[in-house]
Amino acid sequence: MVVIPTYNEIESLPGVVARLRAAVPAAHVLIVDDGSPDGTGEWADQQAAEDPQMHAMHRTGKQGLGTAYLQGFAWGLERGYDILCEMDADGSHRPEQLPGLLQAVADGADLAIGSRWVKGGEVVGWPKRREALSRGGNLYVSIMLNLHVKDATAGFRAYRADLLRRLDLSAIEAQGYGFQVNMTMAVVDAGAKVVEVPISFPERQAGVSKMSGSIVKEAMTLVTKWGFQRRWAKLTRRRRG
Ligand code: GDD
Ligand code: MN
Repeated sequence: MVVIPTYNEIESLPGVVARLRAAVPAAHVLIVDDGSPDGTGEWADQQAAEDPQMHAMHRTGKQGLGTAYLQGFAWGLERGYDILCEMDADGSHRPEQLPGLLQAVADGADLAIGSRWVKGGEVVGWPKRREALSRGGNLYVSIMLNLHVKDATAGFRAYRADLLRRLDLSAIEAQGYGFQVNMTMAVVDAGAKVVEVPISFPERQAGVSKMSGSIVKEAMTLVTKWGFQRRWAKLTRRRRG
């Protein structure tokens, strides 16, 4: 199943869902909408009423990407899906590339990440500033956390449900986009197999990004905290011998 978190994506979501249903006809789709004023949630309800593979969850007010995914995962795990995917609603994650992620899981990955920053991956039409933010963010994450993942902030993913079941999801702290790094760290620390699959990430054609200064700040603060915590834990482990 695929979780798609939405906030004001009525211009993009219908096209993305149609492409997704064509690319992976067996997939169930859960839209987690945070009370979008633009009617995204109503559209999701209509789909759910017509199509047994479409599902809608509604939350009151914009509560963050991270908590939307955690609620979506809980929903999917309760219902026994084998693979739980993350995908953006704005077209930046091409549904046609989801089969590649699913294949990586079929080939043995516990987590497949659609990656912009491995060989063969790319961003299309991003302003220089946004590219610098993503590259800089990933560089900072790799220095602080050393996860050996090139695109730790990426949001196009396929998780094996068994992996999610083994993680302590209640320990995930980040509410915003830092969620992706938080999950990557939890997965790597669990010793799970992560595979990065190159993707092409085009800039959204409609609507606006929900990335904000406070989201970047939350992520930076958490990554810094995690980095020091991990260094400290390593140090005390060594002292104890
Ligand atoms: N329900 C809900 N609640 N959905 C949200 C929220 C929220 O608070 N904030 C964002 N979303 C949804 C958007 O509607 C969209 O479907 C998806 O999350 C991604 O939001 P964008 O605003 O399009 O993100 P972006 O393009 O700036 O960021 C991309 O890059 C980030 C950093 O690499 C995404 O791929 C992120 O997943 C990624 O972390
Ligand atoms: Mn986007």
